[in-house]
Amino acid sequence: EQTLQSLAAAGGRYFGSATDNPELTDTAYTAVLGGGEFGQTTPGNAMKWDSTEPSQNSFSYTKGDAVIAFAQAHGMKVRGHTLLWHNQLPGWVAQLPAAQVQAAMENHITNVATHFKGKVFAWDVVNEPFNDDGTYRSTSPFYTAMGIDYIADAFRTARAADPDAKLYINDYNTDGQGAKADAMYNLVKTLKSQGVPIDGVGFQGHLAIQYGFPTNMQANLQRFADLGVDVAITELDVRMVLPRDATKDATQATYYSNVVKACLAVTRCVGITIWDYTDKYSWIPGVFSGEGAALPWDENLQKKTSLYGTIVTALGGT
Ligand code: G3I
Repeated sequence: EQTLQSLAAAGGRYFGSATDNPELTDTAYTAVLGGGEFGQTTPGNAMKWDSTEPSQNSFSYTKGDAVIAFAQAHGMKVRGHTLLWHNQLPGWVAQLPAAQVQAAMENHITNVATHFKGKVFAWDVVNEPFNDDGTYRSTSPFYTAMGIDYIADAFRTARAADPDAKLYINDYNTDGQGAKADAMYNLVKTLKSQGVPIDGVGFQGHLAIQYGFPTNMQANLQRFADLGVDVAITELDVRMVLPRDATKDATQATYYSNVVKACLAVTRCVGITIWDYTDKYSWIPGVFSGEGAALPWDENLQKKTSLYGTIVTALGGT
């Protein structure tokens, strides 16, 4: 049977969907998630710092283990997300004196990466280090305490804990060329030249039709690949201002198609993950009021046949 995953796999890639623990009790939802369309999943929240180390040096893996168990039962690989991010940090991290942040960071990465060793094929080690203008996010407590050195230190710590996982840096609004993508490119180039163990760059792909398609996406992915790293589309969704109409749907389908084709055109683009597959569980309406309809299945878990067909075609299917 032809599925998004079978088509992607024919080209040596995966096609995945994020998921989250509350949804795993929805049997209509899990029937599709584990039904063959997706060969990969990413936990949307389960492996973040507030879930895994809610109080200092007290680790909780229940939610992450549940996602792993679902994935293993359905033949899906797992991308670990994320070892280090300025969001969804428990309050105790922000309270730490600067002199204790590095040790806490290394302890967190070591413990979490060790627990999931052998169960995730990749990690988003550092998530969203840049502001949209390409400057470093100085509000991150890791940046505040350590400056940019926190990034290299995080990668080295992750590699020591799990030598086999592919280690990624991941961000949004870096999909097309521009100041933020240039900043990421320069960072990755520097890390590579310093021998820092970085294997990949994740491009989240949180797109919105009202803001246009990213500039020269394929060329952007290619220039990163040319640095000697893998690339991946890690959190794809294409939102619109509601309500849906035929024109917006057509634009959205073109965006999905463009992203898939950009990945397929870059040898080192290893796969595509959508940020959940159904509007029922999309993060968008909760954050962007009045926007949504961003995913290939609607809020009733019905496949959007036109959009789905466009993605199939872009993947080389019929
Ligand atoms: O766990 C609490 C729950 O106890 C509480 O009752 C409920 C009330 O709002 O909130 C729950 O926490 C929510 C959490 O998801 C778990 O469901 C947070 O409010 C909510 O903000 C959080 O949203 C997540 C968001 O990251 C946080 O920044 C989304 O589910 C998740 O999809 C989203 O994912 C991020 C990626 O990690 C990084 N890239 C961007 C992407 C979209 O924002």
